[in-house]
Formats: sequence, structure tokens, C-alpha cells
Amino acid sequence: MTAPDHLLLHFTANGAYGEGGNELLVLERGEGCHVFDSNGRRYVDGLSSLFCAQIGYGYGEEMAAAAAAQLTTLPFNTNWGTAHPPALELAAALVERAPEGIEAAFFTSGGSESVEAAWKLARQYHLANGEPQRTKAIARDIAYHGVTLGALSFTGVPRFKEPFGRPAIETRHVANTNPFRAELEGEELTRSLLAELERAILEEGPETVAIVIAEPIQNAGGCLVPPPGYWPGLREICDRHGILLVADEVISGCGRLGEWFGVARYGGRPDLITIAKGLTSAYAPMGAVLAGSRVVEAMRRPGVTLLHGITFGGHPLAAAIALRNIEIFERDGVLENVRAREPYLRRRLEEELLPLPLVGDVRGDGFFFAAELTPDGGEGRFEPEQATRLVKRIVPPLLLEHGLIARADDRGDPVLQIAPSLVADEAVLEEIVVAMRDVLAAAGDEVGTIAGAAQGR
Ligand SMILES: Cc1ncc(COP(=O)(O)O)c(C=O)c1O
Repeated sequence: MTAPDHLLLHFTANGAYGEGGNELLVLERGEGCHVFDSNGRRYVDGLSSLFCAQIGYGYGEEMAAAAAAQLTTLPFNTNWGTAHPPALELAAALVERAPEGIEAAFFTSGGSESVEAAWKLARQYHLANGEPQRTKAIARDIAYHGVTLGALSFTGVPRFKEPFGRPAIETRHVANTNPFRAELEGEELTRSLLAELERAILEEGPETVAIVIAEPIQNAGGCLVPPPGYWPGLREICDRHGILLVADEVISGCGRLGEWFGVARYGGRPDLITIAKGLTSAYAPMGAVLAGSRVVEAMRRPGVTLLHGITFGGHPLAAAIALRNIEIFERDGVLENVRAREPYLRRRLEEELLPLPLVGDVRGDGFFFAAELTPDGGEGRFEPEQATRLVKRIVPPLLLEHGLIARADDRGDPVLQIAPSLVADEAVLEEIVVAMRDVLAAAGDEVGTIAGAAQGR
């Protein structure tokens, strides 16, 4: 198919399709860790369908059985003043697997809604404690926290925000954790990042700040791993100033880093955790906010009403599928698979990608890695137009040609990112690594040819 006549595509230059333009990739079928397009071409899904398909595409029958059982029992009920067994059971199952101190779940239909709900819970917590002046948020540069107007305030990508006017929530952005681009490393980097955060809080007025929100590993910018002690440091600063700490785990949660919650890996103890995407392995749309005891206690005080609700939040069908997803994770050793194969994936990525002239860095944890693309294979930087050309025009057709679904991104420095299905074995990981190498080698040749032609001009 060349053009989607009646469908508007998300985050896409919709005019780029049609006569003489881009070919539209239509994926029709999934099998294990692979997907097939409408022409029958096979791709290895190196991105788990935008960080969602944790268990791949091979559990359709089992998920359909869970869905059928729920749909023939109770197809729908809300969580507005009532409940149903799948929501109650799922909330308990998530709390059981969450970091210490997490006590309850509030369900949503996706990631942006989870971030909005976390903000509302935080605001109501501060109101219940007689601190209505805590109206500000601190987030990090280039971070993506979603697109609904509240979540968009936290998102640190200026071009996604500018068309929509003043952010709904006053948000200050501080540095993210990019060890490749930072001048310091290790604990020194941690100290400097935490000092910057605390300076920002003091400048804003600590009594006006409601939350600090961060991803355990920041996705935008390319799998930005926190330096040692960063998450415990965030906790200390938030405690010192009465601020709630929110871990946005929409990507890093649900097994992506080999843990149910990625913060566990970095010693984080957040007050609120947002999840979505992998909660059902995307067999149904669902998100959640998990709340710590302080927040839950405030919501349960006499006279306090939680002024937030989403009709489909906690839909019984999605909750039944999420419960089955947890069962599958535990029965089939999904977290164990990530932990066991992470060293292999890291080693093979480093072996194959670091020697390429276009790759400056390979980084990540779990089944979540990025290669940062640089003009010299070192720490040089592409001009912004060159970076955009590379990730928007050069890499995407090469990915299709090499049968790999991965993400070329230029929200920060240009990167090619992968997030394989959490059930991928070594053969699948190898297929992804080799395709990634071939794509980046070919992209490097193309960039070299363009640069050479420009010099000769
Ligand atoms: C960290 C993070 N938060 C929030 C969101 C928003 O999630 P959704 O697209 O489900 O609204 C995303 C989406 O990619 C995300 O990566």
C-alpha cells in the first residue's frame, strides 16, 4: 500500500505518503518475535512494537482464552466506586511485585494517562497535607512522558510542545543522565547531576515543587543509564524537600530491564510508578499508577475524594489479560530469560557495532539498548539537519531492506534503538544484532558518500 487514504498516522509526516512518496508499512501478522507485512515479508521485531510486545506474538490463543473467559463472565464494569475481580486481583499482584512501600494501583488505559493520574494523585496528596502551593514539577531534558497536555508539560522535547502553547503544568527541566556526553563519570557524575537538581529545586522554591519525575533509564536520547547512586540520591533530595518522586516506568517496567520494575535495579524507592505498554504485553491496552503508602494513606483520609477517573481504566478484559501476562512471565521464566541473555546481547552489540565508523557508543541495560550515531565513530556530533536526514531518510529504508524493526531517533543525539521481545532467544538476538550492524554499515557508507560529495563541491 502506498498511502493511508483515511487513517492519520501518529507522530508522522502524514503528507509523506502517496504518489512518489514513502511506501506505507502495513504489518498484518505476528509469529514469535517476528512480524509479516501485507506483502508477506518477514521482519525481526527488534522493538517489541514500540516497547510493548514483551512476550512477542506467540501467545494469542492463550490470551484469547483469558479474554473469552472474562467477556463471557463480565465484559465490563468500571473502577468508579465499584470494582471487579480482575482489577482487584491485578492490583494485588502488582503491589506484591513492586518495590518496597508501594501499596495500591490506579488503572488507566495507557502511558500518558498514567502520567496524568500520577500528577493528580501527587497534587491531591499535597492538598490533603495542607500544601496547595506545590504546583510545579521537575523533569529532565529530552525525556518523553507522553502527549496529553499534563504529561506533555513534563516531556522535555521542545518541538513536541511549542505548537500547543503554555504547558498546563509549570515544569523545570534538568540534565538527564547521559554518561557518553557528560564530562564527568561514575559517582562524580551522580554528585553533579544531583547538585544541579537540588539547585533547581532551591531556585524554584522547594515548598512549590510537587514532584520530580524521571525514567529509570531515559528512553529519549537513547537508553540513558543512570550513574551509580543516582536513584537513591533522588530519594534523599525529594525527602529533604517534601517532594514526591515519580518513576515513569512506561518503558522500563514490566520486565524490560529484567525486573518487574526497572527502579529496583538502581536502588530506587519512588512514591509513584507509572506503567503501561508491557503490562499486558500489548494484548490489550492498559496502564496503571502504583502509589506508595504515604499517597494511599492521604487518599483514604476521611473527607478526601480522589478527583480523577477514566471510564476504561482497569477494563476487566485488559485486567484479565494483564493477569494472564503475569502468569506467563512467571511460568515461562520471562524475567529470567532477560537476565540470562542480557550479557550476550550487550557483548554482541559491542562487538559488532562499536567498530563501525558511524557508532560512537553502545549503551543500555536489560533488553533495552541504543547505538549513538556520530560522524567520526567517536564523540563528534552531527549538525542537526544531518542527524535528521540520517534518522529520517537514510536509516529507515535500510531497516526495511534488512528486515529489522528498530527505532532511529533524533529527539537527542541520533540513535538506533532496540528493545527485543523478552522471550527472544540467542538466535533472535543474533538476528537483530547482525541486521543492526548491516544497516549501520550501509548508513555509514551513505553518510560518507554524502560528506565526500559535499567536500568535493
Ligand atoms: C516514558 C514514557 N512515558 C509515557 C509515555 C506515554 O505513553 P502512551 O503513548 O501509552 O500514552 C511513553 C510513550 O512512549 C513513554 O515512553
